[in-house]
Amino acid sequence: MTKNISLIDLDPRIDSGFFMAKKDNKEAINGDFKGKDILSLDQFSPLDISILFKHTKRMRTIGVNAKPSDLLKGNIVTLIFYEPSSRTFGSFGAAVKQLGGQTIEVHDVSATSVAKGESLEDTIRVFEAYCDAIVIRHPIKGSIQKAADAAFFVPVINAGDGAGSHPTQALLDLYTIYEKFHRLDSITALLCGDVLHSRTHHSLIEGLSIYPNNTIYLLSPKKLKLSREDFAKYSKNNIKLIEIHDEKDIPENADVWYWNRIQRERFENPKEAEKYKDKFILTQQLLQERGSENLIILDPLPRVGEIDLNVDADPRAGYLRTQIRNGMYVRMALLSLVLDKA
Ligand code: NCD
Repeated sequence: MTKNISLIDLDPRIDSGFFMAKKDNKEAINGDFKGKDILSLDQFSPLDISILFKHTKRMRTIGVNAKPSDLLKGNIVTLIFYEPSSRTFGSFGAAVKQLGGQTIEVHDVSATSVAKGESLEDTIRVFEAYCDAIVIRHPIKGSIQKAADAAFFVPVINAGDGAGSHPTQALLDLYTIYEKFHRLDSITALLCGDVLHSRTHHSLIEGLSIYPNNTIYLLSPKKLKLSREDFAKYSKNNIKLIEIHDEKDIPENADVWYWNRIQRERFENPKEAEKYKDKFILTQQLLQERGSENLIILDPLPRVGEIDLNVDADPRAGYLRTQIRNGMYVRMALLSLVLDKA
């Protein structure tokens, strides 16, 4: 007699509770991170963010004091990146290791079966058999949702979805802003660069929309403003968006300046990106002319000329200081909450 074997029967670890039952994709966090895919900031409420940030503070203590932690002992997290990365890949890897977990690190998919033509879905199903969570970056917008749909059991975390979104970057940006101002409402922010393609800009807009009374100025070359579709989508949220194309329209009262490079790899013709590269450079002079005293300057990095090196020494520059370390702490907090180890 042949037994109708289901996938569940095939993996005894499921019965032993090794895997968590996977919830629906793109589910609101609603105070409970366990087993959920982290796909975009619209899953989060102020309560969810406060749970995450409270936990991030604990993670900071572990990181700063090099305190041994075994919070993720026994957990394996796969990092699979179909696109270059330094900070996101490094900080997720460091986050798992800080907490005593282990990683499978795929930084170069050309060395995997992807090079033989394996589909994204199959690759995800293979790796989910080896681990408890998958962190993934992909150059094509929509691929992270596809990966989340493909994974049967383990949560999938978006580490950059083409020109779409980059939620964990926005979470660390919000944390950095919160550390400075002790609030995430009533913030005036200036986002500058390639607003059309910059997923970090998109996710930060979503993130600041979670709180009331925020205003975002979007400074970009006209050709690189938000797509009308995105503008309509984000404007529906709780946020005032003001598009500007000239430095003289920068408000003098902004709390946050957030610069991001022109996203060269998103252009059909990368040579076209050259035209915009030097259009808006953050210099000491611009800071003197339009920056407020209590400003924080952020950039998700890499920097490719959009912020002058002379700005680095300015006490308002957060990009090579707190912003990077906060990335690791926020990711430590997020992983331990999603893996139900917080
Ligand atoms: C950003 C990204 O990948 O979108 N980098 C990062 O994750 N820190 C920004 C960028 O590449 O410009």
